Amino acid sequence: MRQPRFVQMHQENNDATRAAIAAGLMGEPAQVDPKYFYDALGSRLFDAITELPEYYPTRLERGIFEAHRLDIASALGTGRTLVDLGAGSCQKAASWFDALAPKRYVAVDISVQYLEHVLRQLQREHLDLDILGLGLDFAQDLNLPADVGDGERLMFYPGSSIGNFNPEQALKFLQQARVAAQGGALLIGVDLVKDKTVLEAAYDDPLQVTAAFNRNLLRRLNVLLGCNAALEDFTHVALFNEVQSRIEMHLQASRALTLRWPGGARTLAAGERIHTENSYKYRVEDFDALLREAGFVQTRCWTDERRWFAVFTARA
Ligand code: AVI
Repeated sequence: MRQPRFVQMHQENNDATRAAIAAGLMGEPAQVDPKYFYDALGSRLFDAITELPEYYPTRLERGIFEAHRLDIASALGTGRTLVDLGAGSCQKAASWFDALAPKRYVAVDISVQYLEHVLRQLQREHLDLDILGLGLDFAQDLNLPADVGDGERLMFYPGSSIGNFNPEQALKFLQQARVAAQGGALLIGVDLVKDKTVLEAAYDDPLQVTAAFNRNLLRRLNVLLGCNAALEDFTHVALFNEVQSRIEMHLQASRALTLRWPGGARTLAAGERIHTENSYKYRVEDFDALLREAGFVQTRCWTDERRWFAVFTARA
């Protein structure tokens, strides 16, 4: 039986990680890169977020995919290498296998370890598909190795993860995705600007799952940096910054305190915040312009009825 292949490109450098986290905590304002949300528990908390009634992006994107699957597939073209960026459980990409008939499936995640079990199972369900698991930190640099093979590629970036880049990083990512597509195409999910109360409820749910997701970052600081953060000293804050068109998440100190770790310390006043995530919300015309600026052509957009979420296709 055919077996998936695995290639690990990204090597974690613990000293560099510690230095980067410490530099963020010493910043004004203090900040932590949202990539540290996703340890095993953080990934499960994020999965739980996607089930919340208030968190509409996952559900709306799935609805758009289901309602327009064949139209979207014909805008993209079939038979390409499907490159799944931030694959996770690989289920979203797998839902496209019939419509897109990929000749190869490349699941990209920071660590192939997360992908092994899922891809072996997927191979049992798709016996003839050429499957590659790739461990790559593509948010740093989207530079695909030769193992991905020749030919046109369909770059798949669902879930509005593009919103977690600032607009400058988003442009760089899209430019790199266009080059990596080798003349193929892009399929991407984008969250749209909407009423502030809807946006804020999606990031501050009454069950406080998003609060737990955010506060889990304090546990991560303690593990990765050897920090002394006490979870009970911080509250979850999520607000829509209309000027920047982004949801911001913060961890707010409920009393004056000092975070200490080997080789460093950061004092926070009561009410002072650590900025933990941005989630940019686009207008359809602005995202379309960003795609074109990155060099994509033949851009097309599908939305839900309320125009809360958009799925774009574009040719590289
Ligand atoms: C992964 N990313 C698209 C999510 C978002 O909506 O920005 C992360 C998230 N943060 C809080 N809730 C969900």
